[in-house]
Amino acid sequence: MCGIIGYTGYSEARGILLKGLKTLEYRGYDSAGVAVYHPDFNETLVTKCEGRVEKLEEKCGSVKGVTGIGHTRWATHGGVSDNNSHPHKFGRVTLVHNGIVENYAAIKNQLGIASKLKSQTDSEVVAALIDAYYEGNPSEAIVKAVQEITGTFGLAIMFDDIPDKIYAVRNVSPIVCCQNEDGAYIASDIIAIGEYSEDYFVLPEFSVAEISGEGFTICDFEGNKIEPDMLTLDWDIKNSGKKGYPFFMEKEIMEQPEVIEKTISSRIKDDMPDFSAENVDDSIFTDCDNITVIACGTAMHAGLIGKHLIEKVCHVPVTVNMASEYMYNDPIINDKTLVICVSQSGETIDTLEALKYARRRGARSLSIVNVKGSTIARESENVIYTNAGPEIAVASTKAYTTQVAVFYLITAKMAQLRGNLNDYSVQNFVSELKKIPSAVEDILNRRNDIHLLANGLLTAEHTFMIGRGLDYPSLLEASLKLKEISYIHSEAFASGELKHGTIALITSQTPVIALMTQDALMSKQVSNIREVQSRGAEVVTFIKESLQSKDVDCSFALPNLSDDFMAIPAVVAMQLLAYYVSSDKGLDVDKPRNLAKVVTVE
Ligand code: M6R
Repeated sequence: MCGIIGYTGYSEARGILLKGLKTLEYRGYDSAGVAVYHPDFNETLVTKCEGRVEKLEEKCGSVKGVTGIGHTRWATHGGVSDNNSHPHKFGRVTLVHNGIVENYAAIKNQLGIASKLKSQTDSEVVAALIDAYYEGNPSEAIVKAVQEITGTFGLAIMFDDIPDKIYAVRNVSPIVCCQNEDGAYIASDIIAIGEYSEDYFVLPEFSVAEISGEGFTICDFEGNKIEPDMLTLDWDIKNSGKKGYPFFMEKEIMEQPEVIEKTISSRIKDDMPDFSAENVDDSIFTDCDNITVIACGTAMHAGLIGKHLIEKVCHVPVTVNMASEYMYNDPIINDKTLVICVSQSGETIDTLEALKYARRRGARSLSIVNVKGSTIARESENVIYTNAGPEIAVASTKAYTTQVAVFYLITAKMAQLRGNLNDYSVQNFVSELKKIPSAVEDILNRRNDIHLLANGLLTAEHTFMIGRGLDYPSLLEASLKLKEISYIHSEAFASGELKHGTIALITSQTPVIALMTQDALMSKQVSNIREVQSRGAEVVTFIKESLQSKDVDCSFALPNLSDDFMAIPAVVAMQLLAYYVSSDKGLDVDKPRNLAKVVTVE
């Protein structure tokens, strides 16, 4: 949450900072600001405002200089206001902050600065603390200050008397760095600066970077020099705009056949699952006798599909945990526990902390992550990257379907290694998996039909989504999509459970979306549809083509795959439904209210 950027070098910083902030806006869009050292005034000048980067851009006319930092905010401490926007300047120190300082009130009292602060933020207190320690050596002051901080931080810092340098330091909150002949760049996310160089590194935690136009000097807190591990960018950043779509979400939905294909094809050899390219150790699949999936939101829903597959095919018990609750519930962990963390960003702090907790207690670990070099990827014993490419829309789409694709591969690999399936059956499983991209393509080609169905939901305040078996977790994801981008209250229910209380809420004003892809559960699902229709509900049905019958009208036919492989096509249809409801309501689909793409606060 919150995006930070910094540049120092030989070009005007203004354009670089504003462009980067526009890209980072998905991390928070409550307010934005920049601070640039102005050569005529010999001072770092701050320009900031509540609202989007577009508004900031209008205020930035006179910003001049070649060294600067910027920020886009998701409010935590202090409301959404101009004063609470970053950068914060205190004395000689100007900074931007991503993270949360838990002991900021105590530091404020200790420094006796309450009357001097201009904002209610924890971040301004950090600027004051560094200023208090500053005696001409920036790194020393930064180290002293951050050692007093409890919490998480990614900080980019400027000092009034050092016009051509930026300093950066981090605990948890990511900072990536790159350079070219024009200067040096830092940001919360490589997509904001990837166009300047394909070689980059993640700033190691608890080290201080001194950044000049010539590049980076990185030292640990004892002053020892550190050489960071270099990474190479393999995302096509230069070509990562909306490509003519009105919203990133639509573009990302449309990319799914390609990225699912990319995610699976590189892990299939001779029709068998193969993780040798990523050195995933077979023993993690054979030595475990229980699996714990840890994730949040959409990523957790991918885990629910994984549970269904692994338990059904490999007969290994799987629990799926909300990362934010995991370590507070005395989870059962032993050396036979395999923890699978799922995360698009690889930075979600709840998931990260839960992973660290499980590893400390002896669990083995595998993470399914989209962002290369992210913290969860680095903290995990094994990583399988989804090849989804950058996902910008806050609502996750292609990250989810590629995570689910990886769960199919894991299931096939486990079943092969543990002898649950013979080679022939594993190959059949894999060949079903390979059909998913074209099934998704088929749905995308018929998206106008789903657009028409969206009309029926535009004025709804509440909806219910009902399904059985594998359809239930798919609907949990569908329901989250609808809620977060259309602001319609939606609840997913296992159809049979509705009559145990919640059916009391069904009226003619609550449209119901029914998903039917599971052969063995059809007749029961038809009865459940009748039950809600009898209470006046309009029902929109998404039914696998081969399961259509005279018993129930079909609103949208889903392509035929065997039942266990319907999870991805079903959700793609639901993503489109949510997307069209949101865009037809005139909402900002990519940046829904109150949300941020990367959740780095607990
Ligand atoms: O980056 P992560 O996958 O760890 O994020 C987890 C959730 O915050 C995320 O999936 C969220 O639920 C989605 N943006 C919803 O569309």
